[in-house]
Amino acid sequence: MPGGLGDGPFTLPPYPHDRLAALRRLADAVPGGMVDCSVGSPTDPMPAVAVEAFTRTASRAVGYPPAVGTEELRAAACGWLARRTGVRLDPDQVCACVGAKEFIASLPRALHLRHPGRDTVLYPAVAYPTYEMGARLAGLRAWPVPLDDRWHLDVSRVPAAEAERALLLWCNYPANPTGAVISEGQAAEVCDWARRHGIVVASDECYIEFAGAAGTGVTMLSAGDAGVLAVHSLSKRSNLAGLRVGFVAGDAELIEYLGALRRHAGLMVPAPVQAAAAAVLDDDEHVAVQRARYGERRELLLEGLAAHGLVHDGGPAWFYLWLRAADGADDGWELAARLAEAGTLVAPGDLYGVSGADHVRLALTQPTERLRLVLDRLATTCD
Ligand SMILES: Cc1ncc(COP(=O)(O)O)c(C=O)c1O
Repeated sequence: MPGGLGDGPFTLPPYPHDRLAALRRLADAVPGGMVDCSVGSPTDPMPAVAVEAFTRTASRAVGYPPAVGTEELRAAACGWLARRTGVRLDPDQVCACVGAKEFIASLPRALHLRHPGRDTVLYPAVAYPTYEMGARLAGLRAWPVPLDDRWHLDVSRVPAAEAERALLLWCNYPANPTGAVISEGQAAEVCDWARRHGIVVASDECYIEFAGAAGTGVTMLSAGDAGVLAVHSLSKRSNLAGLRVGFVAGDAELIEYLGALRRHAGLMVPAPVQAAAAAVLDDDEHVAVQRARYGERRELLLEGLAAHGLVHDGGPAWFYLWLRAADGADDGWELAARLAEAGTLVAPGDLYGVSGADHVRLALTQPTERLRLVLDRLATTCD
């Protein structure tokens, strides 16, 4: 069973990026050192509004912060959602989290406690590995939903028997690693299908501000908040990955339950970090600057890599390139080895699922001059 429970005791798989150790050594041996495009960890500066809010509040943070999030943070999240997506929620429909990853890894367990009769987590067949991991950490089954030829979830291919067992369905648009985006019509179709089967839609929207030329992407909440949880992160939008903060918004009853559970578990975002998060959510200017950086880098590499037989085969979003060999000659590990020999580290596509095995993922997070070096070195090695 793909991604399911084994017979023996639980054993942790290797951490996905630890599998890149040999490629990392190869790329780092190139004079000038490796250009690490294998992870989506931001390298651009933290916005000044975040630094100011953090430092202004840090010396006052002597008491425990609210686990659900400060009023200021929840109001800022609602203001941002309304401004950028048109969705209006009450602040009680928002709960803070210690970054999206923590929430993603713990949600299956939290939902299963309430619905022990459902034991399966549905997730995209090519996806961020934590969706599957969260199921496994809860002792549940993980079932990969096939994608169509544009990397969109094809829920029509979920057998009725799997849908009946499913607790939740993970969606992720703009998608990691493929860059696929979704329309409001597609969001409504997925949500209608999930509601018909009593499945919670958990939508990881951490790249929503980098949906491509369109700017902000579509939230699953556009299909209504009943049974929908949209997970947002400040890591990518505002380069705050080091502060660890995000929020989840949606179905009032689910948010109330999850907020109460998180309070019992002591899952709190530090108060100065909540202040920084509220400040960045009130500000769109730094996001426009960041969006322009990713757009510029994407254009540079799309053209430059195509000249070396590497084509982007994903969607229009602006954070990752999802590359394959134009002639189909190399699989993802072979492509990654070819790039590592030229000093660039990328992530082979099978880290995200077997159907990604012919691809590599390249993150656009490195400074533009380092990405120019990627192309210069390829030109030198191929000449
Ligand atoms: C799809 C997806 N979700 C969540 C995360 C983690 O976000 P956070 O930093 O908020 O934990 C990442 C990070 O790369 C991601 O790609």
